[in-house]
Amino acid sequence: METFVCKKCGFLAFLEAPVFCPICGAPKEQFVSDPNAIKKPADPKNLTELEKKHIPVVQINKQCGLIGPGCVDVNVKVGEIMHVMEQKHWIIYIDFYHNYQFIARFTPKPESVYPAGGIHLKVSSGKLTVLENCNLHGRWVSEVDIYTVE
Ligand SMILES: [Fe+2]
Repeated sequence: METFVCKKCGFLAFLEAPVFCPICGAPKEQFVSDPNAIKKPADPKNLTELEKKHIPVVQINKQCGLIGPGCVDVNVKVGEIMHVMEQKHWIIYIDFYHNYQFIARFTPKPESVYPAGGIHLKVSSGKLTVLENCNLHGRWVSEVDIYTVE
């Protein structure tokens, strides 16, 4: 799948460049196609320690205890081995996409927040993509099909 990166702020768009960057407002012309914008594990069945620290772990709960029926809880942690959150090495942001369209960004401060976050979805089907950006190790993603989750 083609990925486009905003030259101004680094936001990543799937499939096509947006008219304006949803993060910094830069116009479409500021986006460049970058097939290597997302890091991928060398062997998905045998992850290295670095890969385990960066690939987001996604939990979906269709029984939201806060908003109630119709709401789908999404919780994310970076990663299977939790990533550090330090001034020199941290998760800058976690972006959420529904059917490859950007829907939300979480920006944890390293001194006070774990590399984890959650959102409440109004949709109960489709594909959810979670992208995290580590200041030293780049962008990593996980994807889940919401409808297949009980
Ligand atoms: Fe990292």
